[in-house]
Amino acid sequence: MLGHAAQALGHTCRFLDPAENPPAALVGETIRADYDDSAALCELAAASDVVTYEFENVPVDALQTLAPRTVLYPPPDALRLAQDRLSEKQLFEKLGIPVPPYQIVDSREDLVATIATLGFPAVLKTRRYGYDGKGQFVIRDGGDLDSAWTLLGGRPLIAEAWVPFEREVSIIGARARDGSTRTWPLTENRHTDGILRVSLAPVDDAALERVAVRYMHLLLDQLDYVGVLTLELFVSGNGLLANEFAPRVHNSGHWTIEGAATSQFENHVRAVCGAPLGSTRCRDFVGMVNLIGLIPAAIRALPDPRTTLHDYGKTARAGRKLGHVTVVAPTAAERDRLVADLDHIVNQTEDLQGLLP
Ligand SMILES: Nc1ncnc2c1ncn2[C@@H]1O[C@H](COP(=O)(O)OP(=O)(O)OP(=O)(O)O)[C@@H](O)[C@H]1O
Ligand SMILES: [Mg+2]
Repeated sequence: MLGHAAQALGHTCRFLDPAENPPAALVGETIRADYDDSAALCELAAASDVVTYEFENVPVDALQTLAPRTVLYPPPDALRLAQDRLSEKQLFEKLGIPVPPYQIVDSREDLVATIATLGFPAVLKTRRYGYDGKGQFVIRDGGDLDSAWTLLGGRPLIAEAWVPFEREVSIIGARARDGSTRTWPLTENRHTDGILRVSLAPVDDAALERVAVRYMHLLLDQLDYVGVLTLELFVSGNGLLANEFAPRVHNSGHWTIEGAATSQFENHVRAVCGAPLGSTRCRDFVGMVNLIGLIPAAIRALPDPRTTLHDYGKTARAGRKLGHVTVVAPTAAERDRLVADLDHIVNQTEDLQGLLP
């Protein structure tokens, strides 16, 4: 999707990806290599005016190899801080952005002591390499401690108090090379088993959005950021709490392709290439339904002009995000009805095929 946006702006893309047949191959020439392959990184740098990344587990060392050889955005430090849940939370705290209560867990004893402080339920998370709820265990009572430790112990961990949130939202922002910023309307996100299922925009709460936008500006300026950055938040009785940030375009912003004047992908490309950012204004009422594990035939056949299917061209696998459908409707009620219909089709197919992990 970034590649499509770059092409539409007249750029030519080249990709580095260790996968055999990555979705990006549909858009441009692909160098197949590991992210830490310095010869491949040098080849990419030599062939490019600008390099960017959109995968959070790219090693920071790869960015350090690229940085002196080309123009590289977002700044490697943003990725370094986001890759470890501890440094991420410490950054939030330094900026005065509230986070759920948490503790570092380095041993089973730590875990027991931490849970005694945080209480039940709590969630134990690997500090690194988590995505789509992987590397997490919800500890509901003392009986879960052993299973949580067996599954995750031995790696650097943190435990967080479970937040009884009213809803989850994300704010997506873009910062250009000259420091100017734009944010898209606040988006509500619904997860199942830690995987994003549905996003809805705009969230009709100007006060909430103002706070989220303030946090976004704090982050963007602190990181001297260039590109698109996403902040995931819990809306709780204690106000907005930061969950995590992603130094990249984000699944909860996929709706911006059809639903906003300028998509997150286009503004990311604009930012990293030194172009001015486009308007982030939202068109009508927008929804996004993720297609996980399989793209149901009934969704492929959708004739409704208010919906758009995006098929990433990935090999199907249970729990894998293979595509999404965007809905743009003139009223929130109409959007919600369409999203509910899509969600129903997706759930039915998943139930039949056991596609969730
Ligand atoms: N402390 C918590 N309290 C309540 N729910 C939580 C908590 N931590 C995580 N969750 C739930 O699990 C989801 C995934 O958690 P998180 O965002 O930390 O993990 P991730 O695997 O990095 O996800 P992503 O796919 O966003 O990268 C959250 O969006 C939320 O629904
Ligand atoms: Mg998350």
